[in-house]
Amino acid sequence: MTLTSDILEGLNPEQKEAVESIDGPLLIIAGPGSGKTRVITHRIAHLVRDYGVSPYRILSMTFTNKAAREMRDRLERLVGPRSESLTVGTFHSFCARFLRREGEPVGLSSSFSIYDADDQLSLIKRSLQMADLDPKQNPPQAIRSVISRAKSVMMDSRGLSQHGQSYFEEVSARVYHHYEELLSRNNAVDFDDLLMKSVQLLQEQLAVREKYQQRYQYLMVDEFQDTNVAQYRLAGL
Ligand SMILES: Nc1ncnc2c1ncn2[C@@H]1O[C@H](COP(=O)(O)OP(=O)(O)OP(=O)(O)O)[C@@H](O)[C@H]1O
Ligand SMILES: [Mg+2]
Repeated sequence: MTLTSDILEGLNPEQKEAVESIDGPLLIIAGPGSGKTRVITHRIAHLVRDYGVSPYRILSMTFTNKAAREMRDRLERLVGPRSESLTVGTFHSFCARFLRREGEPVGLSSSFSIYDADDQLSLIKRSLQMADLDPKQNPPQAIRSVISRAKSVMMDSRGLSQHGQSYFEEVSARVYHHYEELLSRNNAVDFDDLLMKSVQLLQEQLAVREKYQQRYQYLMVDEFQDTNVAQYRLAGL
């Protein structure tokens, strides 16, 4: 495509190169404030305006709500009304929408609730009771971080009980087991589940994976330095 496209103006040579590499998923790793979001938004504009790519085929994910809002605002300015057909959002918002639509094979009905930090803690307290464990000796907050870390590497309670590397992780695995059960009984997921279950679903269900691979021919991820294993796998699928 021509170097005179106005979308390429106002970019430094490295940014220009990234914007112009139009094939395949793009992963931008660069320091804060160095122009990552600028590269991604200009690349999307370049695809839509100069290459005639349908906005419907583009998925752009960010880590924070703030970054997603910023991305959306900048795209509205660069692409205009067609930006409404782009899929732009956080990893978590994308996964929530995805699971409401496709979550049945991983045991989720479309009306599941998403539990916040407080909901999680009360569920962990109940799980401690069920496991006959003392919350004073096993602080719920600490157990929650162990569970969250396990989920971020796609590990369920069985995995944690097998691979636990300390007494506390072993105890946490017992709590995690009840916690999983309570979530499922309440038709609920926590924040980490949104990612973990999306990855699991895409790995296990070929037809679903193919459907989304076919729809989203262009994938962009902003703020990749914050990305955990579950997010990284999701982007790779
Ligand atoms: N080539 C450039 N010429 C002029 N201004 C630029 C250029 N690249 C980026 N900027 C400006 O620098 C600021 C930071 O850019 P941007 O938000 O894209 O960076 P970022 O790496 O996404 O930052 P953050 O780490 O905060 O998300 C913005 O105001 C942007 O408009
Ligand atoms: Mg940014």
